[in-house]
Amino acid sequence: MTSQNDIIKALEADLVQASNEHAIAQVKSKYLGNNSFISEQLRLLPGLAPEEKAQKGKELNILKNQIEHAITEAREQLLSSQQFPIKDISLPGQRFKQPYGHMHPASRVLQETYKIFSDLGFAVVDSGEIETDWYNFEALNMPETHPAREMQDTFYIKNNGKLDVLPRTHTSGMQVRFMEANKPPFKIIVPGRVFRNEDEDVTHIWAFHQIEGLVVGEGVSMAQLKGTLLHVVQGILGPEADIRFRPSYFPYTEPSVELDCRYKGQWLELGGAGMINPVVLQNGGIDPEKYTGFAFGWGAERIAAIKYGLDDLRELWRPRFEFLEQFV
Ligand code: PHE
Repeated sequence: MTSQNDIIKALEADLVQASNEHAIAQVKSKYLGNNSFISEQLRLLPGLAPEEKAQKGKELNILKNQIEHAITEAREQLLSSQQFPIKDISLPGQRFKQPYGHMHPASRVLQETYKIFSDLGFAVVDSGEIETDWYNFEALNMPETHPAREMQDTFYIKNNGKLDVLPRTHTSGMQVRFMEANKPPFKIIVPGRVFRNEDEDVTHIWAFHQIEGLVVGEGVSMAQLKGTLLHVVQGILGPEADIRFRPSYFPYTEPSVELDCRYKGQWLELGGAGMINPVVLQNGGIDPEKYTGFAFGWGAERIAAIKYGLDDLRELWRPRFEFLEQFV
């Protein structure tokens, strides 16, 4: 006669093979259905002697429970493997397809720039993008009729026919603001967005970022200005980079220079700089007899373009991921 153990073993083997609901139902009918061993045996029970009947009945019940239990378990396993498909962890790995985020090239250059200036003891100062006519122009020695205003193509906002506030054309508006609120000596940089009413081309965009620098103290010199700028430019572009000054004109610095940098054999214009005009120090409440200072302002996009070899500045602010993904 078939032993109970044999039946359980055969059942388990059948269940391993049963890979779907239907196959499990077939196994169930094989072991518990009308023609199953269990049903056959149960049908024989009434003909047995009372003691044997009790003994046999008990055994058959236990076996039936075991079979039912094994089938229920197989069913649950099938269900959970459908919900969580089993992965073959021995297969070779696949690169994660989702693109990772990364820093925008302009932001990366900004971060590096902040770090280099901070290491030199400069504080990074916040500022607003809307400026008054006074701080953007007048306080910087550019009265309303001054021709130097023409140097910057301003988006004017006229209030009652009078110039009042404007989207700042440069970060230099922070010079007098900061002088008014702080006593020298100080060394700061002011990064921020500025706006110019000009046609865009490969080297001009109407909204861009500048980094303004302002240093005021006793005996601050032009040599320090050049040394500072050289150190920072080399920090960003590497020791082979160089800078040069070309004579220029800004009403708020005297003398004024244009700052160029040489990188990979090419000279490129980066921004303007100079020794702070005594008139500006006075407007900021600082005694020009006692203190001197330097200021500079350069384009953040320009230095990013130089560093990454971009020939069109406009690409930086276009939402073109294929372009930006080069800078991972
Ligand atoms: N504000 C000037 C510009 O936007 C740059 C500059 C800053 C020049 C500070 C001198 C001193 O071009």
